[in-house]
Amino acid sequence: MTGKVAVVTGAARGLGAAVAGELHALGHRVALLDLDGEGARRRAQELGGAAFGVKVDVRDPVAVRAALDRVRERLGVPQVLVNNAARTVSRSVWEIELDEWDDVLAVNLRSVLVLTRELAPAMRERGWGRIVNMASLAGQQGGLVAGAHYASSKAGILVLTKIFARELAPYGVTVNAVAPAAVRTPVMDGMDPERLESARAAIPVGRFGQPEEVAGLVGFLCGERTGYLTGATVDVNGGAFMR
Ligand SMILES: NC(=O)c1ccc[n+]([C@@H]2O[C@H](COP(=O)([O-])OP(=O)(O)OC[C@H]3O[C@@H](n4cnc5c(N)ncnc54)[C@H](O)[C@@H]3O)[C@@H](O)[C@H]2O)c1
Repeated sequence: MTGKVAVVTGAARGLGAAVAGELHALGHRVALLDLDGEGARRRAQELGGAAFGVKVDVRDPVAVRAALDRVRERLGVPQVLVNNAARTVSRSVWEIELDEWDDVLAVNLRSVLVLTRELAPAMRERGWGRIVNMASLAGQQGGLVAGAHYASSKAGILVLTKIFARELAPYGVTVNAVAPAAVRTPVMDGMDPERLESARAAIPVGRFGQPEEVAGLVGFLCGERTGYLTGATVDVNGGAFMR
């Protein structure tokens, strides 16, 4: 399983940076897309060769197309896509402004539609592809910490994953969602400590997850041996939600 080109959105920091590291360690050439272009380039440099950081706003379909053209020129045609970029906002459902609602949905959900429609056709033509969408426990149960717009975007990802999985299944392209609960990343820094502590206390494993614990799962889902695993939502939540 070497030599594929992987695109990871939101890869400058947090889970995306860990996923980029995992895919790179597995032998992929990795394109790191992020609104924070400097962070994406820095992370790409840390990874060493065969990694490319690109500044892009995933809300902007024209900019996404241009960024993916650069990726194709630089690394080749992507056959792995991890839709990870997200805006996490903690706010009461009564207080969300509609502009903020639209923006969170555009970053978190519409980008999955845009990136998948850009990259899946080449995967389909080649008869092999892996797409992993970063969902959340919030999309299954409503967020304890994050707002209703965030939770709704993640619920939308779960069904969009199934829709694309069904469309692409005959062509060797799998599409799965990963649903973490509370993972130690910079996104936690701005959150109310009391709500964070109550979230931690509800996790049977008794601690927050580490980015590498999610990245390892994403790496597995992007591997050669998962051709029969598609349309699934894989929980990685310390037991916080058991089906
Ligand atoms: N950390 C957790 O506890 C947790 C739990 C469940 C799900 N998740 C999901 O995992 C993913 C990563 O989470 P994280 O904690 O690493 O978040 P994070 O905020 O640390 O990182 C998100 C990255 O996305 C980038 N980004 C934001 N808006 C963008 C845009 N418009 N265009 C391009 N890039 C943009 C940011 O610059 C940042 O680098 C997200 O999808 C998040 O919803 C995280």
